[in-house]
Amino acid sequence: MTFAVSSFFGKGPGLPAPRDDARVPRHVAIVMDGNGRWARKRFMPRIYGHKHGVDSLVQTIQACANRGVEHLTVFAFSSENWKRPEEEVSGLMGLVLSAMTRYLTKIAGDGVRVKIIGDRGAVSESVRAAWERAERTTADNNRITVWVAFNYGGRWDMVQACRRAMADGLQASEITEESLSRYMAQSEAPDPDLFIRTGGEVRISNFLLWQVAYSELYFTDCLWPDFDEQELDKAFAAYAARDRRFGGVKNDPASSAGAADAA
Ligand code: FPP
Repeated sequence: MTFAVSSFFGKGPGLPAPRDDARVPRHVAIVMDGNGRWARKRFMPRIYGHKHGVDSLVQTIQACANRGVEHLTVFAFSSENWKRPEEEVSGLMGLVLSAMTRYLTKIAGDGVRVKIIGDRGAVSESVRAAWERAERTTADNNRITVWVAFNYGGRWDMVQACRRAMADGLQASEITEESLSRYMAQSEAPDPDLFIRTGGEVRISNFLLWQVAYSELYFTDCLWPDFDEQELDKAFAAYAARDRRFGGVKNDPASSAGAADAA
């Protein structure tokens, strides 16, 4: 496994890069799919693809921070990934521990804040401790926040939000989109502007279901370990060309005649 991160964050740590271009998404969410196929193409075990997937992740964090992205959320392990062969599951858990050992000091020094979302109850004590250490060590950083979705599912998120709201004593009449949002795992982040999925599949797969209501969706055949700065820029160019209306209408002369646009 090679990790070329010596020039990580060429612009140095500190505040987020200025977002002088509104076409740069403030929050990017990524389903990092295609690691297994990437490895198979090389006659290697699937975990080999995941290891290279960590490379792509590190580069993508750098590229996003340098472009002024404030939040990056990545789907590292879904609630459904426990169904994978035991060897792959334990390989992924081991990868978390080795990636933390290898990168935590570096990314902490580069201004990255790490936050974990997902059900921590089912993960091992060592993985839980690694996540807690990552959050603690990077808590004061503010260049970019990287949300790692681990043992996460969008439906789980909605259920845990409802449970916590009820535990706080919210009455049925007090449950609104705004109040429930405050209990979602990413309550302090804006909803993703851009949702990227690599690996050729065209589905959400139980990722951030609540939050992607108005995200721009971008699907690419590129397998995650091949995803690089150029691929990110392609996604950003597609995003910049989108017309975001959030259910309304924009500069449409026909709208005064009552034409509705619900997209
Ligand atoms: C999907 O590809 C990828 C995953 C289930 C895991 C992604 C995890 C990483 C990139 C590592 C994360 C590590 C840290 C420390 C955050 P797939 O296996 O479904 O690929 P396939 O569709 O080709 O089989």
